Amino acid sequence: MSDLAELQRRAAERAAARAGGTDRLRGHLVCDGLVRIFKTEGVEVVALQGLDLVVDRGELLAVVGASGSGKSTMLNILSGLDVPTAGIARVAGFDLLTMNAKRRLRYRRKIVGFVWQQTARNLLPYLTAKENVELPMTLSGKKSRDRAMNLLEMVGVAHCADRRPDQMSGGEQQRTAVAVAVANDPEVLFADEPTGELDEATAADVFGALRTINAELGVTIVVVTHDHAVADQVRRTVAIRDGRTASEVRRSARTGADGAEEIVSQEYAVLDRAGRMQLPAGFVDSLALRDRVKLTLESDHVQVRPGDE
Ligand SMILES: Nc1ncnc2c1ncn2[C@@H]1O[C@H](COP(=O)(O)OP(=O)(O)O)[C@@H](O)[C@H]1O
Ligand SMILES: [Mg+2]
Repeated sequence: MSDLAELQRRAAERAAARAGGTDRLRGHLVCDGLVRIFKTEGVEVVALQGLDLVVDRGELLAVVGASGSGKSTMLNILSGLDVPTAGIARVAGFDLLTMNAKRRLRYRRKIVGFVWQQTARNLLPYLTAKENVELPMTLSGKKSRDRAMNLLEMVGVAHCADRRPDQMSGGEQQRTAVAVAVANDPEVLFADEPTGELDEATAADVFGALRTINAELGVTIVVVTHDHAVADQVRRTVAIRDGRTASEVRRSARTGADGAEEIVSQEYAVLDRAGRMQLPAGFVDSLALRDRVKLTLESDHVQVRPGDE
């Protein structure tokens, strides 16, 4: 941890405290002004440029974004594999910037679970589904035969208990991977494009498994994908653009005039603590907005107009 990063972290905390209190930093998972710069052969790539994200305990959140928008960079930091350049990243009381090697190991073993996109990376090929789920429990000395079967049932693959990965479909493998990832009862589960190699119907089954695990075990889940259709699968979806959180969609159930329940979804732009927000690309294009825009404060909204005379 460099002194500079420590100073930047404290500055970010003070700025957050000034702008609306430390409330926004209270969450099971918090990223605030998160920056990750990669240097390769003298060229800097800013993969995350001030990413803000707060996730409540027990929430199931989808993060969507085009390829290269910084989704994996964010998850690698949140799962303790990579360290950010600056900003705040905190999960379950663990400060991901300042924790020492011993605490990092504890974090990765006990606090977080992970599901990767590549099915082969999640399961050991020579073990059955049940043995794969039992393995992390055995390693931590908490082996329980019942728990492995219960978890496989929860994610809907009890019928695969005695099969090896090559005897299961891609969707069954990923659902088993979800069971493996929560075997040690982590507080948070991260999944990086877990349905990236699956067709739509099979992908919906995997999301179903994530929803069940979220509801039954209360584990906080962040699932990353480039597929915008997942917004239909979860209550809250956050969109990342160019290494920042740009917008989010919230779905909720409402009883309509005819008494029937309907799902309403509302899209929001994300406002950071400095008051910055990103206009949707479609809005910018359709009015050919560029360089500067005119803002007018109305009694209950703000107008944005092209800036040229
Ligand atoms: N280890 C690395 N070294 C250099 N650049 C990287 C590295 N990892 C990611 N990047 C760059 O950071 C940006 C974000 O990448 P990534 O987080 O993998 O995006 P996503 O998962 O959304 O596709 C990309 O421009 C990528 O090329
Ligand atoms: Mg990725």
